[in-house]
Amino acid sequence: MEIIHVSAECYPVAKAGGLGDVVGALPKYLNAAGHIAKVVMPMYRTKFLYENEWELVHEGGAYMGNNSFHYSVIKEKNNKLGFDLYLIDVNGLLDRERIYGYYDDTERFLSFQIAFCDWLSRWNHRPDVVHVHDHHTALIPFMLQHCYAYRHLAAIPTVLTIHNAQYQGWFGWDKQHLIPPYDSWKWGMLDWNNTVNPLACGIKCASRVTTVSWSYLEELQGAANGLESLLRAERGKSVGILNGIDDKIWDPATDTYLQDHYNISGMAKGKLGNKKTLCEVFGLNPQKPLFVFIGRLVGEKAADLLPGAIEDAFYYIGRNMNILVLGSGEPWVESRLLELKEKYAGDYNVFIGYNETLSHQMYAGADFLLMPSRVEPCGLNQMYAMRYGTIPLVRDTGGLRDTVIDIGDHQGYGIRFREATVGELTHAMYRALDLYKNKEQLGNVRAYMMKLDFSWDKSAEQYCNVYQSIIS
Ligand code: ADP
Ligand code: GLC
Repeated sequence: MEIIHVSAECYPVAKAGGLGDVVGALPKYLNAAGHIAKVVMPMYRTKFLYENEWELVHEGGAYMGNNSFHYSVIKEKNNKLGFDLYLIDVNGLLDRERIYGYYDDTERFLSFQIAFCDWLSRWNHRPDVVHVHDHHTALIPFMLQHCYAYRHLAAIPTVLTIHNAQYQGWFGWDKQHLIPPYDSWKWGMLDWNNTVNPLACGIKCASRVTTVSWSYLEELQGAANGLESLLRAERGKSVGILNGIDDKIWDPATDTYLQDHYNISGMAKGKLGNKKTLCEVFGLNPQKPLFVFIGRLVGEKAADLLPGAIEDAFYYIGRNMNILVLGSGEPWVESRLLELKEKYAGDYNVFIGYNETLSHQMYAGADFLLMPSRVEPCGLNQMYAMRYGTIPLVRDTGGLRDTVIDIGDHQGYGIRFREATVGELTHAMYRALDLYKNKEQLGNVRAYMMKLDFSWDKSAEQYCNVYQSIIS
């Protein structure tokens, strides 16, 4: 099968979160299973672009509303990522450093999707499946099926993966003229609650919808930021497939971001080495257990609980632990976390920003990972942590529920709690410290987690089954 992934992110080209990790890994595993998987994404001006070699494969032009635009498609020359990687450039819209966060993101991702459809319509063969990810590319199934210019591609089956239903890409009907012409009576495909809703449109038009864990698919039936009834109506064509992790990049024995490499037998020593490096940089004490948080400082991740939990943990449990936070997001959470630095110097620190190297060092050097997420469609952090022998403390939701079993349960290895509250989070930390005291149990749990198989092989096979089911 030939599968074309179309996405806003792909690691290591451009990553803002787990979407990048998934699109950077899944195609590799599909190729290994004997298929041809390719990735198409926007040509942001990232380091990866400047450091690699490219060839021009296509130049073309298309319309967005009344304005024509020129686009070009380049291909990475040396198969660096283990799959064919294509970047689409639209001057003035995609040629920027960041992935998201511009005032004209609607126009940016519309132009990307139009350019993709235009380019695809000029191929002299058809791929077997077009697989789109999240709302940034979710209008492609509609465009292929209903826009006059691309209707000859309507038979190509499409898959939409929902990585996060909180963000839907909504825009007003005043911008609908930017979508290539279609029969106006089909407007209902685009609409949800009187706005153009790309994610809803993708759910309606894609041949199959997948979510990134089983529990998330179930949760969406009752809580999908307004799309519940649509997801219930389309339940029949939806399937939950748990993400995997790229076990070649995320391996403590070979991770290029680490100084101290380790496997299960050298785990205690290796983890301590990484912890010492971290503690030196952040002024912490490597003799104490280390809790870390890595992620976007937003409500979905319940990052707003962190300042309160840090204060309560030090007050009620004591200063017998270290806490280190890495992330960026809501300004008030950032400034509260920064304020606490002085008060708890020596026991707590925070790095505001995005830092891939530091994240790897933290998965390796930490004892415990905090993940109190309110919404977690899959979550990769907890799987990375476990692969590095770090025990996750997670709220019982979405992919966290599907990947972490509480130590109190049969064959458990992590700590799970029900509610996203300061009280439950600090209680989980209390339980973690209890476990930390029992060195034998701690070592066994860590070793057990490092052996768990979260690799992509199984999940890639499930995606193949989905593709097979829609190829006529
Ligand atoms: P989400 O995609 O919702 O942010 P995931 O758990 O799926 O959550 O994936 C998050 C990914 O982004 C992980 O690879 C994690 O290590 C990484 N990450 C998140 N925040 C940061 C940060 N501030 N610096 C470095 N890596 C980060
Ligand atoms: C989203 C979700 C996260 C998931 C990631 C990759 O960003 O928030 O839970 O792991 O996508 O699928």
